[in-house]
Amino acid sequence: MCGIVGYIGESQAAPILLEGLAKLEYRGYDSAGIAVYDGTKINMMKSVGRLKVLNELTHDGETLPGCLGIGHTRWATHGSPTDVNAHPHFNMDESITVVHNGIIENYIKLRRRLESRGYEFVSETDTEVVAHLLDYYYKGNPIEAITKVMHRVEGSYALGILFKQHPDEIFAVRKDSPLIVGHTSDGNILASDVPAVLKYTRTVYFIENEEIVRLSKTNMKFYNVDEEELTKEPTTIEWDVAAAEKGGYEHYMLKEMYEQPKAVRDTISPANPRIKDNKIEIEELNMTDEEIRAIKKLYIIACGSAYHAGVTGKYVLEGLARIPVEVDLASEFRYRDPIYEENTMAIVISQSGETADSLAALRDAKAHNVKVLGIVNVVGSSIAREAESVMYTWAGPEIAVATTKAYSAQLIALYLLAMKFAYVRGQIDDAQLQELIKDLQRLPDQIELLLNNKEKIQRFANRYLASKDVFFIGRGIDYAISLEGSLKLKEISYIHSEAYAAGELKHGTISLIEEGTLVAAVLTQDTLYKKMISNIVEVRTRGAFVLAVTNEGNTEVEKTADYVIYIPQTNSYFTNSLAIIPLQLFGYYVSLGKGCDIDKPRNLAKSVTVE
Ligand code: G6P
Repeated sequence: MCGIVGYIGESQAAPILLEGLAKLEYRGYDSAGIAVYDGTKINMMKSVGRLKVLNELTHDGETLPGCLGIGHTRWATHGSPTDVNAHPHFNMDESITVVHNGIIENYIKLRRRLESRGYEFVSETDTEVVAHLLDYYYKGNPIEAITKVMHRVEGSYALGILFKQHPDEIFAVRKDSPLIVGHTSDGNILASDVPAVLKYTRTVYFIENEEIVRLSKTNMKFYNVDEEELTKEPTTIEWDVAAAEKGGYEHYMLKEMYEQPKAVRDTISPANPRIKDNKIEIEELNMTDEEIRAIKKLYIIACGSAYHAGVTGKYVLEGLARIPVEVDLASEFRYRDPIYEENTMAIVISQSGETADSLAALRDAKAHNVKVLGIVNVVGSSIAREAESVMYTWAGPEIAVATTKAYSAQLIALYLLAMKFAYVRGQIDDAQLQELIKDLQRLPDQIELLLNNKEKIQRFANRYLASKDVFFIGRGIDYAISLEGSLKLKEISYIHSEAYAAGELKHGTISLIEEGTLVAAVLTQDTLYKKMISNIVEVRTRGAFVLAVTNEGNTEVEKTADYVIYIPQTNSYFTNSLAIIPLQLFGYYVSLGKGCDIDKPRNLAKSVTVE
């Protein structure tokens, strides 16, 4: 959601900015712009639409010469997506320009004040107040002006700033929106996220909240809000450049679906393996067995697909470890004034580690002295840094907006936790643990098997391109699978779809079933199997066409459902990892058949850094 880049060095800035922005496209955007300083004037070009338009307008950056500049992809929040509202934004005499990721919450008040002092605004954005406010406070010292602005603005921001009076420097600052900087071979670069800088460096500095950075060609300085200089340690990013490229696949989403066996394998066995001597070892937890036994309740908090992983986590943790779990959408949790009890722990799940609501929920839990464990994919992200302990999912960089491999890796992290807790708390014995470990380790090969069966799903998907509504139903873990299967379909194909707990159908939803409506029924739980069969019969009698996803061996489903996809046998707690594969493929192929923009669906952002 909004991406910023900045470069200063020996090379022409514009091509580097455009390339950096292309690497941030996955975050979601509707317009883009760059500003480059040629030593005399700050020149700017911005446009609605894809980066392709900006590349054409600037002849791939050639028409904006200069060795320092800033760029932005905008996901509209305040003011519709127009050329004027696109970033960068100038102050009135065009001597200061800013790009911004985040939301300035008190911008209306600030705008009124600035207007009363004669400042004229050209856009409807919240960002423009920053440009004018910097102008108001700038008396020759950029750091001083920036800190004054920081005291005045409320909300979240990662800002890239150029001052005409400082032709050899770029400035940046952040609060609650991500920002990293790194050295290139001939200068310095800043960006919202790692993929934009990977080509130049794997050594990056994560800018913390309320830190300011000042970049010149050869230098990098950091300051706090009191204008004191700071020393910062760099972090080495293990991801390689190829991992963040499409590598011959038609879409990132397809590539990432195919990376799921590896993501699962790596999450089970990262550099420091999580299964040692036939026991689950999660050192990052930093918890003694005593502390694990003392846990009375878990809160799982997340957004989007990470929330769906959390719903599965609830079933698995409660079922295996017998610990009560409350699972919440972060946007609800943060405002519901949760009742925090003693001996509880919060688990915040996030691919990006930057989701604003998840981060706010984390802070709330911490403020109430609740231990927070982050299950996070992006190393060094805000949630990873602020959580007391962090268990990384090793899915590698995920670019497609619709998550697949990070979701699969999140499930594994939750299974590992559940197995560990169950064993330590005496809910399962050695033999049961060994069975679970065996099944867990078989998952990557089983996922591969399902992926190799993609043509069958594609053929089926092609029959449903014109669907208006699709329903996903399941019970227990199968309900959690349905939630994610439904989201995958709707977010990339724009077909309306809903997931229902199958037992809830009769309370309203069944009235929506018409002749030919597609219902995807998930039945992987033996104990709920018969109930699901009855639910399938109910929708079929009302005209539904039923796609069933079930375990190998359940062949009698064929008598009831119209089309059946089998998943290999595994422990009933792990079936999500397998059943989700055909559902992801279904969403992908429906979207492909409809000609949608699979990797960058309309209106969506990969990293939702505003609430
Ligand atoms: C966005 C993404 C989803 C993701 C959700 C939560 O909506 O498109 O794929 O599940 O945010 O993001 P997080 O980075 O916290 O997992």
